[in-house]
Amino acid sequence: MSAPKKLFIKTYGCQMNVYDSERMAEALGGEGYVETKSADDADMILLNTCHIREKAAEKVYSELGRFKGLKADKPDLKIGVAGCVAQAEGEEIMRRQPLVDLVVGPQSYHRLPEMEAKAREGEKVLDTDFPEEDKFEKLKSRPKAKRGPTAFLTVQEGCDKFCAFCVVPYTRGAEVSRPADRILREAQDLVGRGVREITLLGQNVNAYHGAGPNGDLTLAQLIWELDKIDGLERIRFTTSHPNDMQDDLIEAHGTCAKLMPYLHLPVQAGSDKILKRMNRAHTAESYIRLIERIRAARPDILISGDFIVGFPEETEEDFQATMDLVEEVKYGTAYSFKYSTRPGTPAAERAQVDPAAADDRLQRLQALLTKQQREVQDSMVGREVGVLFEKTGRLPGQMVGKSDYLHAVHVADCSREVGDLARVRIVSSGANSLAGELIG
Ligand code: 5AD
Ligand code: SF4
Repeated sequence: MSAPKKLFIKTYGCQMNVYDSERMAEALGGEGYVETKSADDADMILLNTCHIREKAAEKVYSELGRFKGLKADKPDLKIGVAGCVAQAEGEEIMRRQPLVDLVVGPQSYHRLPEMEAKAREGEKVLDTDFPEEDKFEKLKSRPKAKRGPTAFLTVQEGCDKFCAFCVVPYTRGAEVSRPADRILREAQDLVGRGVREITLLGQNVNAYHGAGPNGDLTLAQLIWELDKIDGLERIRFTTSHPNDMQDDLIEAHGTCAKLMPYLHLPVQAGSDKILKRMNRAHTAESYIRLIERIRAARPDILISGDFIVGFPEETEEDFQATMDLVEEVKYGTAYSFKYSTRPGTPAAERAQVDPAAADDRLQRLQALLTKQQREVQDSMVGREVGVLFEKTGRLPGQMVGKSDYLHAVHVADCSREVGDLARVRIVSSGANSLAGELIG
């Protein structure tokens, strides 16, 4: 028998790419590939790319440039580009970087084994179609091997919101929900392999409306179905749009014990003028009222958000409205970005904000968000939380896991194992993590 071929996958960007990389590795596993952690000994290198901001896309080209030497030493090495840069710039990638053998967009991953075979024969292959068939159904089913206690599971893909800054509707396509039975089967299978926590993924996950036995299910209804799976202890979902935060989902946050008290709910900006120009279809006020309703259902919920500063036509006053909204909401964690022009999106045509002003605003916003993050983290001291242990710590006997609120928690002299869910009292708050001790 010949030695297995080695596959090196590098993943950029969001959690959905992490999930897709796993599924691609599994599909190529069926073609005799095993994963390697180093590009140097790979027979195939796959970059699973992100196109959300310019910097993310440019990284791909500089990374590809670095493989020149490897390819010269090993002419059989195949190099592929997957993900959203592949979708957006398919042919351009082949033109700019002749060492690329294969370009595959996110909706064509089920065709990867065929494409790999063609690339092996020396062909250059490109597939950035949006085919009708469900790629996840066509992708090889996930192998039975044991795995870590947390997993991602894509339930919805694409987006119909068309925020004026965002490439997602173009790279991931129209909003599509996977049928519920397939998701439940995949979840059951993951639990059978040791998974205790599943994060449901979608670019607009709370718009989920997958087919069920008696009509479409909402995300909350899907969560209640998952809640019935014995051995599944925790459910999370990301990323949501404020306008799709339906009543049954808000209610589930108060009533479903497996649904964790953490919600990522991007607002992007606090000025109604800017929100309108962004095509967000909500106001700062409606967002704040929504957060109040969610907190009424689940008072301890940790709110996370995304922000963009320096969006075209943003004035200092508009930016102040973002700061005011942040002060009012109080975020447990957040991601903030300087606006990045994405070719093909409506905002790309508009007058841009002075980059120095945008940098300055980003710094101020991040300082406020970091302060809030620290305050929320510090407020955990003295509280009892659930912790799912994910790995051993750096110190002997130490275990590391995530709290219900997604904070990293270290426990010294810990008698528990990876995959155990324990009650932990938080005793101190460090730079980026909490320390706790087992209760009982
Ligand atoms: N520029 C800056 N940030 C962006 N995001 C999306 N598109 C852009 C862009 N063109 C941010 C949004 C989104 C997150 C995933 O990335 O905040 O919620
Ligand atoms: Fe992009 Fe999210 Fe807006 Fe959809 S809702 S266009 S994914 S920012």
